[in-house]
Amino acid sequence: MSFFTDEQAIFFVDDDAALREANVQTLDLAGLAVEAFPDAQSVLPRIEAGFSGIVVTDIRMPGMDGLELRAAIHAIDPDIPVVLITGHADVAMAVRALHDGAFDFLAKPFASDHLVGVARRALAHRALILDNRRLTAAAAAIDSPLIGESPAMLRLRETIAQLAQADIDVLIEGETGTGKELVAHMLHRQSRRSAASLVAVNCAALPQELAETELFGSDLVDRTTGKPGQAGRIRAAHRGTLFLDEIDTMHPAVQAKLLRVIEEREVQPIGAAAPEPVDLRVIAATKTDLMDAVRSGAFREDLYYRLHVVKLRIPPLRERRPDIPQTFAYFLDEAATKMGLKGFQIDDSVRRHLVEHDWPGNVRELKNFAYSVVLDLPSDPGLSAMPGDASLSERLRRFEATILHDTLTQTQGNIAETMARLGIPRKTLYDKMQRHRIDPKLFRG
Ligand SMILES: Nc1ncnc2c1ncn2[C@@H]1O[C@H](COP(=O)(O)OP(=O)(O)OP(=O)(O)O)[C@@H](O)[C@H]1O
Ligand SMILES: [Mg+2]
Repeated sequence: MSFFTDEQAIFFVDDDAALREANVQTLDLAGLAVEAFPDAQSVLPRIEAGFSGIVVTDIRMPGMDGLELRAAIHAIDPDIPVVLITGHADVAMAVRALHDGAFDFLAKPFASDHLVGVARRALAHRALILDNRRLTAAAAAIDSPLIGESPAMLRLRETIAQLAQADIDVLIEGETGTGKELVAHMLHRQSRRSAASLVAVNCAALPQELAETELFGSDLVDRTTGKPGQAGRIRAAHRGTLFLDEIDTMHPAVQAKLLRVIEEREVQPIGAAAPEPVDLRVIAATKTDLMDAVRSGAFREDLYYRLHVVKLRIPPLRERRPDIPQTFAYFLDEAATKMGLKGFQIDDSVRRHLVEHDWPGNVRELKNFAYSVVLDLPSDPGLSAMPGDASLSERLRRFEATILHDTLTQTQGNIAETMARLGIPRKTLYDKMQRHRIDPKLFRG
């Protein structure tokens, strides 16, 4: 029934001892875990948010009645299924209770298999809800890779969490390496669209001739090959997120067609008789101020305002310098762990570089710097990405180590795939990893 939820109990509440016992026995015989309670007061303390089971309760009870119990349970967790048992004169009231959020009701007298059926359905429903919550929480945890505790970053994280839920189009603005793509993925994964795909399109890499088919798709059958048309990225993003990277470089002809997709939420593939609806969220990213492109006539003003519903600006590193040491330490540690190195010291030249450098390449540059510092160790603890006076063999050594490291990151430490990608035999790969003190295990999982 569920990947995660194993122990699920039914809490059965009825002040009538004979009925209570008969129903508990029915559920028990059906193989369901059930616990009996004589009144609302005794069951309530057992209910907490995330309770894995369901509640079946009589409506008419002395003290707190079943309707009040339903409300009290839903104040704790609004998604706990509550099944109400009602005398047949009370059906109208039970129907009202359904509107108020009861899961279902059973009118007395009811057949025992009816009770079992409703209970099973409610349990399955609850299991699904809890699975869903766990998946969302897990995704959010994976999704907090944004490092930085400066006020700007705290605000950014908060805004991302709010926007992710809001399902509106977002324009992300930030210099190179500030994390635009990372943020787009966070927005997607924290949204209700996370089960579908984020389809990324780099507009700069799309020549105009290809852009239309690539984006909007084509329903034309290729006359020479007989191959059917192409879905296109927009249709591929249906129910998910379309990430338009480097939107400022999009060709004007493509801008016009995209405007229609954004305004009407429909796409007309090449050769299609009519447009078809698409359900997607658009996240666009730009390195430059799009308004400048609008002023110079390179970007359509109407498209700009459509995309600009919400603008998320990611500050460059130099505007949040206090984040530099923490971010550097994080990547240094990540690099060292991957390479199986421990306990080395950072020397003054590295520290000075952190403080004095302007970081035009932002977090990407800082990350590369951290990796290069680790690659330099321990034989050469001096500063640097690559000092200009390093000998050729030294440069080659570092270059090779970087390639090994990058490939192992991509293959997650898979030896066969690393061999294939680098085109080298197993023994050579192992020799090289040993020489550079790289442990492939650390790239796995
Ligand atoms: N705040 C951050 N915390 C941790 N890692 C970050 C942060 N910002 C960026 N990164 C990392 O820096 C690298 C560059 O980020 P990303 O590719 O998202 O940048 P970008 O803004 O899309 O750059 P470009 O405009 O050049 O495409 C990635 O490895 C990303 O994971
Ligand atoms: Mg990018």
